[in-house]
Amino acid sequence: MRILITGICGFAGSHLVRGLLQALEGLRISGVDNLSRSGSETNLAPLRALGCEITVADLRDPGVLERHSGADWVIDAAAEPSVLAGVSGNSSATELLHTNLFSTVPMLEFCRRHSAVFTLLSTSRVYGIKPLCEIPLQVVNGAFTPDSASGFDRGISEGFSTQPPVSLYGASKLCAETLALEYGEAFQFPVWINRCGVLAGAGQFGKADQGIFSFWIHRWAARQPLKYLGFGGHGFQVRDCLHPRDLVPLLLQQFEAGAMVPRTRVMNVSGGLPSATSLRQLSDWCTARLGAHTVECDGQERPYDLPWVVLDSALAKDAWQWHPKTSAESIFEEIAVHALANPRWLDLCSR
Ligand SMILES: NC(=O)c1ccc[n+]([C@@H]2O[C@H](COP(=O)([O-])OP(=O)(O)OC[C@H]3O[C@@H](n4cnc5c(N)ncnc54)[C@H](O)[C@@H]3O)[C@@H](O)[C@H]2O)c1
Repeated sequence: MRILITGICGFAGSHLVRGLLQALEGLRISGVDNLSRSGSETNLAPLRALGCEITVADLRDPGVLERHSGADWVIDAAAEPSVLAGVSGNSSATELLHTNLFSTVPMLEFCRRHSAVFTLLSTSRVYGIKPLCEIPLQVVNGAFTPDSASGFDRGISEGFSTQPPVSLYGASKLCAETLALEYGEAFQFPVWINRCGVLAGAGQFGKADQGIFSFWIHRWAARQPLKYLGFGGHGFQVRDCLHPRDLVPLLLQQFEAGAMVPRTRVMNVSGGLPSATSLRQLSDWCTARLGAHTVECDGQERPYDLPWVVLDSALAKDAWQWHPKTSAESIFEEIAVHALANPRWLDLCSR
């Protein structure tokens, strides 16, 4: 089997490589990455040492994918993955759309020409901000928790509204989802859309707006300033988390099923309720593991902030008997070990 991974040097891409190589013998993996994400360059030599053929190029460069013809599976893990992309920070809205949406078109054309399977790593950010903010919440053990009668006791399922606003980032991924499904339908190749919640683990290029678990634990370990932003500045906001290597068994099953299985092609893939953690709870974990540190309370709101996002992956569990294996605690521990061994990691990620 030959796999082409776009964004191969990114956090998810590089973990997928390692997980896939461990899971299957005789696999050939190649990839494309423009190394635009600060820190991604650190994965280039180690992935090449594992045998990956990597083209350092922008996905917008014409013909770049054809250097990898022969691949029978394309995994799209290239993106501007921050919810603030396009509205603040380093990338413009046009750049965001070029990477997250327009670059999907050559990948889909590639799959069409070579009858390859297409897998998109999508996001919980496709769900509507307004209805997400309207979920009735109470505070339990330092974390926002849906009211028991709210109907969200298992998390947010795929039927949840995707009505705008969802952020430019969310919209770019939602459009890419739609385009991929239409291409798959029109040109008869298998398409799988996996909507991930927060992905987390050691080696993630943490920033305040993306890779929050990594950012928080690294900053805590280095005793650098941290703030609870928004929602009154208490740190009650909650996310679930998943280690990207836990995606591997699911992706492999989907690949093997190909076009033959008339199952739903869009699903949530996330750590769900068992992994749901508020920033305040994460701080408690950090205190116990790394010692005391002070977090500033700052109620200042950030665009697109959400109080509670926990995905229900029941569809993936029912259809594929897929279950996350790595607990949130193990993810945090892995990040802490990495943080202690690499005290300047966040400097590398913020260049
Ligand atoms: N990290 C998360 O919490 C999370 C959650 C949900 C979904 N996702 C999705 O998973 C995928 C991977 O995210 P990640 O966390 O690994 O992000 P990442 O930033 O670590 O990796 C993305 C990689 O894509 C590369 N890239 C960006 N633009 C490119 C371009 N134009 N041409 C070539 N390469 C380019 C970057 O250099 C980087 O190595 C993304 O599609 C993201 O939307 C991530």
